[in-house]
Amino acid sequence: MSTQILEREKSEVASSRTREPRRDEGTNCPDPASKSLAGCMGYPQSAAVIEIKDLRVVYRGKGTGQPDRTAVNGLSLSVQPGEVFGFLGPNGAGKTTTMNVLLGFVNATSGEARLFGTDVREPIARQRIGYLPELTYYYRFLSAEELLRFYARIFRIPRPETERRIDEVLKLVELEHARRRLIRTYSKGMQQRVGLAQALINNPDLLIFDEPTSGLDPVGRMKVREIIQRLKNEGKTVFFSSHELGEVETVCDRVAILHQGELKVEGRIADLVRQHQLNLEQIFLKVIGYV
Ligand SMILES: Nc1ncnc2c1ncn2[C@@H]1O[C@H](COP(=O)(O)OP(=O)(O)O)[C@@H](O)[C@H]1O
Ligand SMILES: [Mg+2]
Repeated sequence: MSTQILEREKSEVASSRTREPRRDEGTNCPDPASKSLAGCMGYPQSAAVIEIKDLRVVYRGKGTGQPDRTAVNGLSLSVQPGEVFGFLGPNGAGKTTTMNVLLGFVNATSGEARLFGTDVREPIARQRIGYLPELTYYYRFLSAEELLRFYARIFRIPRPETERRIDEVLKLVELEHARRRLIRTYSKGMQQRVGLAQALINNPDLLIFDEPTSGLDPVGRMKVREIIQRLKNEGKTVFFSSHELGEVETVCDRVAILHQGELKVEGRIADLVRQHQLNLEQIFLKVIGYV
């Protein structure tokens, strides 16, 4: 791939993942050099992988004639190592905004957010995460393995390690058979799984997936669920948003339900079901005021 294409792709990757970039950062690409240094530099260690305290995000109308919009209001939650955490809420609840704060794409208006004990405003906080955006756009004239090589270069993964990682992630997302086919020939489910493979290429400890199953058929959804389960078995922490409650019920250790930017319910599904004497769907509908 020519340097020119690589540079263009890099900027497309950055822009497709960025809504309101922080002005003080050049790039969100982790620097593997500092990753390896982190451990021996006394990188702050914390029990929680994600720690959010009293987070508030207000999008300013700023002379557009639009009013200010409070997307997240007083959100506090924590996600522990190895947990699969379902971040639920109807459209507009503030799920993507919260994830964008964790990823450093949107600034908190107030409150605190930490990844592995480090404030998300520090780029180093994002060293150990993989991210699947709500809307993905991949270069359709690349094959899966070419796309993954491209991302491996962004992460500066050495070549022999790259090929090993590509084999590993393609196996995990069940795309080995299609690794040399152009992505444009993939089904929606396969495209989503390429997205998951991309998020995993740097072997992150925390995965942030924004509605990973949206728009997929039941088989596609089941496959994504299985991938999340495999990641959990590998000891990864998974924080994903969804409004599809069936899948959440089968795969999550804990859930939080967000509505109009506020945390309404949080806990283990079995405990919530016991407390409310309702199933998860009924709890969800009650929380958002439909029943
Ligand atoms: N860039 C933005 N500018 C202004 N308002 C926004 C922006 N992004 C999201 N919002 C608003 O913030 C609220 C939360 O949106 P979002 O975080 O995308 O919710 P969800 O992901 O749960 O659907 C919504 O009211 C949405 O319209
Ligand atoms: Mg969203």
